Amino acid sequence: MNGMGWTWTTALLVGFMVVAVQCAVVAEKQKAMLHPDSALFGRNTHDGWRTERDWAIVTDAVRGGSSTAKVVISPRDKTLYFSGNLDTTTLGGAGFASARFNFDAPLNLTGVRALLITVASRDDKTYALNLVDSLPETSPDGRKQSAIEYKFSFGPESSFSEKNAEIYAPISGFVPYYRGRRVENAPPLNTSNIVAISIMIQSYFDQQKGDYSLKLSSIDARK
Ligand SMILES: *[C@@H]1O[C@H](CO)[C@@H](O)[C@H](O)[C@H]1NC(C)=O
Ligand SMILES: *[C@@H]1O[C@H](CO)[C@@H](O)[C@H](O)[C@H]1NC(C)=O
Repeated sequence: MNGMGWTWTTALLVGFMVVAVQCAVVAEKQKAMLHPDSALFGRNTHDGWRTERDWAIVTDAVRGGSSTAKVVISPRDKTLYFSGNLDTTTLGGAGFASARFNFDAPLNLTGVRALLITVASRDDKTYALNLVDSLPETSPDGRKQSAIEYKFSFGPESSFSEKNAEIYAPISGFVPYYRGRRVENAPPLNTSNIVAISIMIQSYFDQQKGDYSLKLSSIDARK
């Protein structure tokens, strides 16, 4: 090998090594960051909470109630603000309001142990996160039936750190409800087929009512 050839080979080798080291550094950085699959909504995702139109408002109006709900998404700080009024007078103590996100393709949460809900600000009311694993069936008269919702409730007593209020919601802690009532003997949540998620407030038979507001920073999945 002549001198020139050796120099070029060395330069090439050094070049490759520099690129390889850079790649390794980038890979390490990406590993340190959240795996994209584990961030569902909010500040750890690219598209945050998507758009306000993606969150369908579902309230007790479907049963003749007067509760209200509204979703405001801030793209700047990637928060979702869920607020409204929980009315219990119209339906004699009952009442609920929710915002529901339907996934385009079912979410596969197999292997996920818990959802981590990060709260930006809140009042002292109790809220719930619902997971749905099947679309409601349509009855012969064309009306949509309800589907079982798997509910995780969190109130002021749920553990928060001072600043970033984080709520750890184990998948095993999502309990089945059908039209607001606990279902015994329901099939376990099919974690490989999550078709919708919703944020909800309900009266728990007149235990809470009135104006409410909850601002969320993120929902992440934890293995
Ligand atoms: C869900 O993910 C698990 C683990 O990655 C995989 O084994 C399973 O086939 C997936 N299920 C569906 C319905 O995609
Ligand atoms: C769970 O959902 C997957 C994906 O749709 C489906 O293949 C599977 O049969 C479901 N499991 C049960 C127990 O329903």
